Amino acid sequence: MKAIVCPAYGGPEVLQLTQLPIPQPAPNEVLVQIKATAVTAADWRLRAGQPAAARLFFGLTKPKYRIPGGIFAGTVVAAGASVARYKTGDNVYGSCALQYGFGAYAEYKTLPEDGVFCPMPKDMSFTDAATLPFGGMTALHFVQAAQLKAGERVLISGASGAVGNMILQLAKYHGAHITATANTHNLLLLQQLGADKVMSYTGNELATCNDQYDVIFDTAGKTPVSLYKKKLKPGGRLVLVAADIGQMMGGMLLAMRGKLKLSAGMARETYDHMRELTRLANEGYVRAVVDQIMPLEAIAEAHRLTQSGQKTGTIAISFT
Ligand SMILES: NC(=O)c1ccc[n+]([C@@H]2O[C@H](COP(=O)([O-])OP(=O)(O)OC[C@H]3O[C@@H](n4cnc5c(N)ncnc54)[C@H](OP(=O)(O)O)[C@@H]3O)[C@@H](O)[C@H]2O)c1
Repeated sequence: MKAIVCPAYGGPEVLQLTQLPIPQPAPNEVLVQIKATAVTAADWRLRAGQPAAARLFFGLTKPKYRIPGGIFAGTVVAAGASVARYKTGDNVYGSCALQYGFGAYAEYKTLPEDGVFCPMPKDMSFTDAATLPFGGMTALHFVQAAQLKAGERVLISGASGAVGNMILQLAKYHGAHITATANTHNLLLLQQLGADKVMSYTGNELATCNDQYDVIFDTAGKTPVSLYKKKLKPGGRLVLVAADIGQMMGGMLLAMRGKLKLSAGMARETYDHMRELTRLANEGYVRAVVDQIMPLEAIAEAHRLTQSGQKTGTIAISFT
């Protein structure tokens, strides 16, 4: 089978196209023929070995998982003897990240039937489906953590990215009043996704406006938490999806002093999240935001664009 391997930490050029044997499913596993994957922030961070502390888990001197890729959409082409949940021909999508050894940058992947995947939303392409799980499960995790309620005023800082666009769509679903930020060229998209007010982060509108929020989600990690504190109502919630050490410490200190409630850390990816994401997609509450579709052979360029932020939503990789 065609596969991309990552034999060393480094720039996008370390990714190499190769041929490997097709894996065989164990009795409790399915074999998925992968039709599409998505290049995510986790993908480029794992390839680059960033942050350095992550190498404790992913390999000290070189990546310990040979084939990268944590997200897939594809078709079940074989099932082990004890598999009951899926049958050959089912179209499925989800995560094959850390606990399943990655491997979505290959034409075939074996997964236990109780893994973090489920049948795809109806009438959705493989490439659209592949762009949903990363941002979708992260957004579900943090929106639940924030206990968002109808009518609350929400700021989403960085709402045009893979995670931000899904937080925006979920906040809309929950009936929040949404202010969303992005680069100027992405503001129309934010309005189309349901934002009530948009701001470009290239100006200083956020710092100078008088708006106050119940909840602030930050997916960019570029704004001082001291500004967020000024923008939060008393008892407001700050959700740091992305944060450097300074922001994290600042957020924790403010939370310890009772100035705000803080949610941060790693989002959990679960089967229940995948089922909920699928329900929301089937009922028309969330849709894919695909920057472009690229072939597997262009994976290095897809990494370069994703890492540099020169994309909107998510880049999908098609195997066909
Ligand atoms: N905690 C977790 O479990 C978890 C899970 C998933 C991801 N993450 C992290 O969350 C972050 C976002 O991931 P992603 O995949 O959504 O990334 P992404 O697709 O690159 O999105 C980044 C967002 O930040 C915006 N942005 C860029 N520069 C900005 C600035 N100076 N001020 C305000 N916004 C700015 C971008 O806007 P434009 O595109 O319009 O420029 C875009 O909306 C990454 O750091 C990722 O590692 C954390």
